[in-house]
Amino acid sequence: MKLKITKAVFPVAGMGSRFLPATKATAKEMLPVVDKPLIQYAVEEAVAAGITDMVFITGRNKRAIEDHFDKAYELEATLEAQGKKALLEVVQSVVPKHVNCIYIRQAEPLGLGHAVLCAKPVIQDEPFVVILADDLIDGVPPIVKQMVDVFAQYQCSILGVQEVPREHTKQYGIVSSSNLAPNVERVHGIVEKPKPEVAPSTLAVVGRYILTPRIFHYLENIQPGTGGEIQLTDGIEALMGEEQLLAYRFNGIRYDCGSKLGYLKAQVAYGLQHKDLRDEFAAYLKTLA
Ligand code: UTP
Repeated sequence: MKLKITKAVFPVAGMGSRFLPATKATAKEMLPVVDKPLIQYAVEEAVAAGITDMVFITGRNKRAIEDHFDKAYELEATLEAQGKKALLEVVQSVVPKHVNCIYIRQAEPLGLGHAVLCAKPVIQDEPFVVILADDLIDGVPPIVKQMVDVFAQYQCSILGVQEVPREHTKQYGIVSSSNLAPNVERVHGIVEKPKPEVAPSTLAVVGRYILTPRIFHYLENIQPGTGGEIQLTDGIEALMGEEQLLAYRFNGIRYDCGSKLGYLKAQVAYGLQHKDLRDEFAAYLKTLA
């Protein structure tokens, strides 16, 4: 029987230190791109892939995320009383009614691998998606949908990857691989943040993963790695010894919204796509050139 993916994990308990002071009292994932917070783009991507259970791994200062996906009684009553139907619709359609939001608290930021492990009681023995909301990826179909379609065929763990400039390898997990099918690679090795001169390739893992539940076994047993954190990459490397691991070269443009420059680029790109803003915004940008 073919397995289907119905659950997505959103690790949102990181410190967001590259975005201080904006992230002092609120989550990096609540930063808006034009008019929607990053985490909403991520949830919409999951919904577009048929996922129904959204599991957020939250930490300190992340209450705004829970509030964002919750019913906002006072706000909705006020908008209704004022007859602001369009805005009411915007507020009420943040998540579709058939979607469940589940929150798990990561008491200490012990790393991405630890954050994913916190989802084990909800995920149990199903394959699942991990989405890092600060990697905003613009693609048609949305990237998680592309990856779920690849999973439907291969039924194994799949990493979302893209080529990066060699001088940037030390910001990513980098895979060594051989080609299996168009855009699909068989992964032979993965190393976290290698220096450019020793990186096995320039194929970088970015914030989309499909993982089998066997990953939990390895995350429970690995030792803290780089920076004293439990690294997801180390868990994936161990998993690879037992199960097939693939990488998928997704079709889309990625904005690293965990960095200030990536975030600014996303604002411009999404501003130029926004139906109410694009013409005026494009005209404004021309005046700057
Ligand atoms: P990052 O490496 O981007 O770290 O985490 P960060 O803390 O969010 O940001 P900087 O580097 O300090 O600016 C990758 C993802 O893993 C989550 C983060 O929220 C982010 O989505 N994460 C990281 C956790 O949920 N828990 C952790 O312990 C660490």
